[in-house]
Amino acid sequence: MQQVELIVGSTLDQAVGWVAEMLHDRYTKAVKAHGRFDMAFAGGGTPRALYSLLASPLWRAKIDWSRVGVYVGDERHVPTGDPRSNFRMVRETLLDRVLVSQGNVHPIPTSTRLEDDAAAYEQTMRTTLAGLDGMPRVDLMLLGLGPDGHTASLFPGSRALGETERAVVGVSPPDAPTERITVTPPAINAARDVVVLTAGNLKAGALAKLLAAEGSCAELPARCIAPLDGEFTVVCDLAACEHLDRQALRQGIVTRRL
Ligand code: 6PG
Repeated sequence: MQQVELIVGSTLDQAVGWVAEMLHDRYTKAVKAHGRFDMAFAGGGTPRALYSLLASPLWRAKIDWSRVGVYVGDERHVPTGDPRSNFRMVRETLLDRVLVSQGNVHPIPTSTRLEDDAAAYEQTMRTTLAGLDGMPRVDLMLLGLGPDGHTASLFPGSRALGETERAVVGVSPPDAPTERITVTPPAINAARDVVVLTAGNLKAGALAKLLAAEGSCAELPARCIAPLDGEFTVVCDLAACEHLDRQALRQGIVTRRL
């Protein structure tokens, strides 16, 4: 029976360092196995620290970015230069500072109708990635966690949580300021590795619900993460563990069977 593994760093920087090491390990294995490493990058604020670390001189030398396929797990439906754009954030913190092959960089299009842009991105993923169970499969899907338990742009109560056929959909979250385009649960669960990186006590409630033995995906969308043939790891800082049982933490048994 598969389970979600929890890795706790004392600080965000320590958590980010662990994710960088894991990313490098999965990159090395993927390049050895199939000559490339395909990764879907998370948006939001938390992963900025990871992307900046990966762009630092030490880390930049460890990864041949020309072998990396760059995807984005979700996007705000705004112009590419908009400060709210996730891809703009990934580009500024990382891609502009490493030697990627432009043909391997796949931002989510946001210049036409929401559903047309979502369908176009699905087509891109399906034609450039290997597949698993009818879904495009990345080597590493990096995700964040919202205080309400959303991940990518899968928000509580969203119809996208029940999607079984499409890999990418457009959504209009009632509490988000913009429409969004997001990977769906089956696309997330086709990944070889799914990593949720989260930090801060504002996420403690969502993290506790994510790791709880019982709960629903509708209430806590990140509970939809259950890779079909891959590993699920949550990496966080101590502040995000505020609602977890310290005894269980110390014994390393804060993991949930999927
Ligand atoms: C986005 C992300 C979103 C994010 C969480 C956590 O577009 O904002 O896809 O899912 O990962 O909201 O965001 P923070 O890391 O900024 O807390």
